[in-house]
Amino acid sequence: MTINWSVNTHEHLASTQDTLKEMVAVNGAYSISEGTVIHAIQQDSGRGRHGRVWESELVNLTFSFIIKPNCDISNIGQIAILCGLSISNAVVETISENYKCVLKWPNDILINDRKCSGILIDAAPAEHNKVPYFIIGVGINVTSSPLAEATCLKNHTDDIIDPEKFMKDVLSSFSDIYTQWKSDGFDDVRSKWIEKTYNIGREVSVKIGSNHVKGYFHSIDTYGNLVIICAKEDKKIKITSGEVFLL
Ligand code: BTN
Repeated sequence: MTINWSVNTHEHLASTQDTLKEMVAVNGAYSISEGTVIHAIQQDSGRGRHGRVWESELVNLTFSFIIKPNCDISNIGQIAILCGLSISNAVVETISENYKCVLKWPNDILINDRKCSGILIDAAPAEHNKVPYFIIGVGINVTSSPLAEATCLKNHTDDIIDPEKFMKDVLSSFSDIYTQWKSDGFDDVRSKWIEKTYNIGREVSVKIGSNHVKGYFHSIDTYGNLVIICAKEDKKIKITSGEVFLL
């Protein structure tokens, strides 16, 4: 069954992620349907991964949505992979074919090596090893890039991009991939993600908390974890959470 999206657009919010989290905290998750989307035309205090700030401007896209897969706790990493793949599908449809859109583990989307979109995932506490819901926040640089080292979709097409139409494309792509994942499992999603990642075989440093692990990017495993070959010990290491830097 595909997701029945219900989009609530606000002119101005501090953070779509916090607004949706608060709705769930106040009303209970059972009263917020899967597919509820909170979209802000202007977001002032966006949260990014690793406690960072996500800067956005009026011309860009910020939204959060809730899904209720009730999946096993061990599959949490697969959700990040589903999200990255769905946004990259919408990006590829939007930008010119002269540019390459690639995925960086766990869920960044890059065009020509620069980030154009980020995803923040808040998982509900597990109940009997099952995660009842996830709140997924998406920030996409559509027409401007607040950080000099990042990029935006507009830099890679001559077409005019309507942010709300783009959001619908992302949601529709997510719904297709999510539905397939629920019925057929992770294998196909995993292969498609691996086809679109950019750094297989390249030397990376992964920041895990305050430590760095160096190695060569190998793959992602069947749970969506990063697998690197550790240069020092010549063995494979599985990483569930961290930040990847190319060396
Ligand atoms: C990242 O650090 O790459 C993730 C950024 C996620 C930002 C989005 S914008 C919509 C939603 N609301 C937030 O406060 N954060 C997420």
